[in-house]
Amino acid sequence: MKVDILLGLQWGDEGKGKVVDVLTPRYDVVARFQGGPNAGHTLEFEGQKYVLRSIPSGIFQGDKVNIIGNGVVLDPALFKAEAEALEASGHNLKERLHISKKAHLILPTHRILDAAYEAAKGDAKVGTTGKGIGPTYTDKISRNGVRVGDILHDFDKKYAAAKARHEQILKGLNYEYDLSELEKAWFEGIEYLKQFKFVDSEHEINGLLSDGKSVLCEGAQGTMLDIDFGSYPFVTSSNTICAGACTGLGIAPNKIGEVYGIFKAYCTRVGAGPFPTELFDKTGDQICTLGHEFGSVTGRKRRCGWIDLVALKYAIMVDGVTKLIMMKSDVLDSFETIKACVAYKVNGEEIDYFPFDIEDVEPVYVELPGWQTDMTKMQSEDEFPEEFNAYLSFLEEQLGVPVKIVSVGPDREQTIERYTEE
Ligand code: GDP
Ligand code: IMO
Ligand code: MG
Repeated sequence: MKVDILLGLQWGDEGKGKVVDVLTPRYDVVARFQGGPNAGHTLEFEGQKYVLRSIPSGIFQGDKVNIIGNGVVLDPALFKAEAEALEASGHNLKERLHISKKAHLILPTHRILDAAYEAAKGDAKVGTTGKGIGPTYTDKISRNGVRVGDILHDFDKKYAAAKARHEQILKGLNYEYDLSELEKAWFEGIEYLKQFKFVDSEHEINGLLSDGKSVLCEGAQGTMLDIDFGSYPFVTSSNTICAGACTGLGIAPNKIGEVYGIFKAYCTRVGAGPFPTELFDKTGDQICTLGHEFGSVTGRKRRCGWIDLVALKYAIMVDGVTKLIMMKSDVLDSFETIKACVAYKVNGEEIDYFPFDIEDVEPVYVELPGWQTDMTKMQSEDEFPEEFNAYLSFLEEQLGVPVKIVSVGPDREQTIERYTEE
């Protein structure tokens, strides 16, 4: 069997959690391969809303096994809070949630370092989620990290060595901090974590594939936040692209099947960094209000703008997307016209590819008629308004990949699969 991968094509928050939940019944296993509690994946069903940070979004569908892979960074304190809340609402996790021994731990001092580095950057700050993501991946790459598997061997020594090193750096930065509360919650988290199954997830996943089982890999963040291909340095610290699933789970590239690329019918970004199609006017405010565009982790207002097809084409290229999923089209239900960026202007010259630097590019738009119809209760593509079908055809023609799923609201049920020919 092959693995399918679902990942964000924009700057995150495309609706990955919702669609992973919807697709889970078709798979045996769901696995997260990168990121950590910087993610906030929202699911809504039966009148309940859940926000997952480190736990894969396949956790609510039956008894499916969910895996936190080696590419993920895990904060035990935040994990405990997240898992306990799920258990309190009747979801038993202990047997079904497996955690890679090779996943790196976010230490309390990683969180402090995240804040200290941001403070030191001043106006140039990234606007991170403050969860210690960058410093944890930095330690991983510089071969100084502490991993989940270390909890079982010589843990106190490894923790103390990492903490001492971090404190030395913080001293150099002249950064004041108080570790006591964070550290207390963290060690409680470590004790809690020990109740879960620590696995060699590369063996587990490849074994499952050999046994004919199917796996859905869940991306976090989005391609435009990828450490290599995103709007560097305003990115996260992991490979969010399709290849990240290979390194973040131990899956060979020739095992990859479908790549689901997910995008909003418009575009958002949270945190600092260039955003060519950002709107600073009434329309931007309207998208923000109608789309409830506030961060699910930090509560920060998300910046809103029109869809950027130049960036989307680039994401589709680096991810090898085979199927597209369009989210939140209902947010545009009332718009008279809708714009889509089809090229950038750089120093007066028009380009249709994603350049090295998008800081000073100017978007070139085409304007399409809106559908001005409430789509939130629609059940099938047969009900789609003509203008909406025209918008989909335009996107497919521009992007060269079929849109197979359309989401018309936050609930699990508000999801329409298209059966049109590819
Ligand atoms: P993720 O990080 O990619 O999982 O996305 P988030 O959960 O951070 O943000 C997506 C937000 O949009 C959440 O609040 C979802 O409940 C909501 N959402 C998902 N799909 C739709 C949709 O089709 N329409 C509307 N209006 N909201 C949606
Ligand atoms: P999901 O999985 C949107 C952004 C932050 C910041 C940059 C770096 O819910 O789509 P970090 O804390 O990772 O060092 O922050 O990345 N960011 C996200 N934006 N959705 C996310 O996750 C994000 N995770 C990180 O706002 O700009
Ligand atoms: Mg999110």
